[in-house]
Amino acid sequence: MMRRGIGTYRLNRTESRIFRLARPYLQVRDNELHAQNAVEFALKLLTFYDAERAVVIPAMILHDVGWSRVSEEITRKASRPHGDRQLARVHEAEGVKIGRKILEEVGYDEIRTAEILAIIDGHDTRDETLSINDRIVKDSDKLTRFAKNFWFWTGQLPMEPEELAGTLEGMIDQWFFLPESKEMARVEIARRRLEMDNRDVAPK
Ligand SMILES: [Fe+2]
Repeated sequence: MMRRGIGTYRLNRTESRIFRLARPYLQVRDNELHAQNAVEFALKLLTFYDAERAVVIPAMILHDVGWSRVSEEITRKASRPHGDRQLARVHEAEGVKIGRKILEEVGYDEIRTAEILAIIDGHDTRDETLSINDRIVKDSDKLTRFAKNFWFWTGQLPMEPEELAGTLEGMIDQWFFLPESKEMARVEIARRRLEMDNRDVAPK
């Protein structure tokens, strides 16, 4: 399979190593691409804020590894736009266990590890945020739905692309914590609409 690469050069050695160890756990849903794209958004947001890259990027890479331990049926139910939160809780708890194992394997700093795991533990089901690090992770996670994961989800959900775009657009103010994220989400939705237009005129 062709690797849809993140500019991996943008990751430092430790981050790349964490990504390599996480990759086997990112082969369900569209999670490898999702993690890569979320890292890209997080790197952008890190340029605007005094946040800690050594917490944000590992948390971003590892946040969804727990889906690998969840049955397909539960994953499907939990992944709907207004999916069951209790179901999403399972992948968070599993993600903490796998994340801890990976961070121990690379010998990661213990204090940072604790913060990373706390972020993973509530990345979908905790409404309040713990820190600017957490806000960047939560926003970047959601931003991928507007970007590289958009076309994957249109295939998964019983929705037309335009309907999904409208639904996502309606969530911008509710979902995002940071103004830069809202801006990026709007830019991405505009890009998806252009792609839709191009699809409509493309020869079948
Ligand atoms: Fe995610």
